[in-house]
Amino acid sequence: MFGKLFARVFVLAGCFCFFGCSEADISFSTPGALMLDDGKGSFRFGTATAAAQIEDGLLDSDWQHWSKPAADGGRGEGADYVGDAVLGFSRALDDVSLLTDLGLDAYRFSVDWSRIEPRRDDIDLEGIAHYRGFLERLVANDIIPMVTVHHFSSPLWAHDFLQGKCSDDDVPTDDNLCGWGHPQGGDELIAEIAEFAGRLAREYGDLVDEWCSLNEPINYIIASYAVGQFPPGEALIIENFDRLMSVYRNYVKAHVAIYDAIKANDLVDADGDGVAAQIGLSLNAIDWVPSSDNKPSTNIKDVRARDRVWYFYHHFFVDSLVQGTFDTDLDSLPDEEHPEWQGKIDWLGVQYYSRNGVTGAPALMPGVDATLCVGQIDLGSCLPPKDPTHWIDSMHYEYHEEGVYNVLTDIGARYPDLPLVMTESGIASNNGRRRAEHIVRTLEQTVRAMNQGVDVRGYYHWSLMDNFEWSEGYLPRFGLYEVDRATFERRPTEGALVYRDIIRARGLSAKVRDAYGGTGPMTPDNVK
Ligand code: BGC
Repeated sequence: MFGKLFARVFVLAGCFCFFGCSEADISFSTPGALMLDDGKGSFRFGTATAAAQIEDGLLDSDWQHWSKPAADGGRGEGADYVGDAVLGFSRALDDVSLLTDLGLDAYRFSVDWSRIEPRRDDIDLEGIAHYRGFLERLVANDIIPMVTVHHFSSPLWAHDFLQGKCSDDDVPTDDNLCGWGHPQGGDELIAEIAEFAGRLAREYGDLVDEWCSLNEPINYIIASYAVGQFPPGEALIIENFDRLMSVYRNYVKAHVAIYDAIKANDLVDADGDGVAAQIGLSLNAIDWVPSSDNKPSTNIKDVRARDRVWYFYHHFFVDSLVQGTFDTDLDSLPDEEHPEWQGKIDWLGVQYYSRNGVTGAPALMPGVDATLCVGQIDLGSCLPPKDPTHWIDSMHYEYHEEGVYNVLTDIGARYPDLPLVMTESGIASNNGRRRAEHIVRTLEQTVRAMNQGVDVRGYYHWSLMDNFEWSEGYLPRFGLYEVDRATFERRPTEGALVYRDIIRARGLSAKVRDAYGGTGPMTPDNVK
């Protein structure tokens, strides 16, 4: 995996060197070309999406009911109703040409659980057949699939918030398992998601070797179970810390159950590298900084709070799997032994979007005791942008190029045995040039980390096309292709064209770096 030889021949501009580049040639600070790939497919260029953000007809997903207007029987949460998103289901086969036009090596997408199992144990065979056809089309076009099992969305029956809140005494039913935190429902959900993953592995294992179990566990649980911004809308952050930690514990168990189910059911080595299934998860990595960095003197409480948040976001979940332990109070010391979890992760996804501030003022949650700002979940004071040209208005955070290097080097040092893959990175912008700057700068910082010995195997840009940005709805535009909301026409942005050139060259040419790279001011968002 991630080392497959590509049959393609890549033509390079004169200044590139595939082989025999000296350290000085590829040093980050030297102007000139920077290679990411060794010419034999050591580095994967991809793009990523998630079903609930692009697909039409996901009628049984929690997001459908969460975002539907209350007048129509939904909860009316978030900025927009997801509806038919960007018709990514009915247009799936046609959209493969968007990938091939860019010359991408790989595509990460999710199979929505609610599509395959709209009601508990009721399997939708048409849904199964659809993804098989889609995967066959990808593979026929030399695009390596990576399948995400759980990317923020669930079938409504996993935690039916429309039925009201479950208490611990409520007995889960087939149409409401009461969510990941319920004493009995949590266990049933773990078994159910393992069954789902095992089914995917059986159905698609001959086409897929790379599996991403869970997308951004820390953010998902915060949004869904700590602050109630995502379905099922539980807000345990202050009221029930132990319950919140049991949601995390169950989600670690869910990863392990998915891992075991895929290993047991995907027995076919699809790409001929000798391994039938490689299973990882993706981590939302944030370049946390003490908020007082913007003040004359840095407050030590802020520094300590930053360290606690850094651990919680980047280490806590993965440590559980690497060490086979669980830290119940987030003090960074293991409290429970779980040898059955140990080593059940083959690679680690890193997803970087922003630099955010942390203050030492109480309280994120008892164990972390810090306030922070993640996107629009403002739990305290956000870091005022150090560089206003890097502010992403529709997401309320700051892109900071060097954060890519900071998170990759930290995570790479902590988990030296896990290959890293940038399973997402992107920018919400209406300006294609700004998107191109984001890609080039992120890749420059990736090379910088690789030059320090960090084992990064690929970059999957978020996202292939504009889509439904969860609570923020359709305003933020993350697409390499912009999508016309009236006609659903997909049009390449400047970001797509620059990314295509990078993929062709297997790296960053001096010209591309001169035009888009560095750390200076970014093109304003709304300038055409
Ligand atoms: C998520 C995506 C999301 C993206 C941009 C990531 O946290 O995995 O689903 O659209 O960030 O906010």
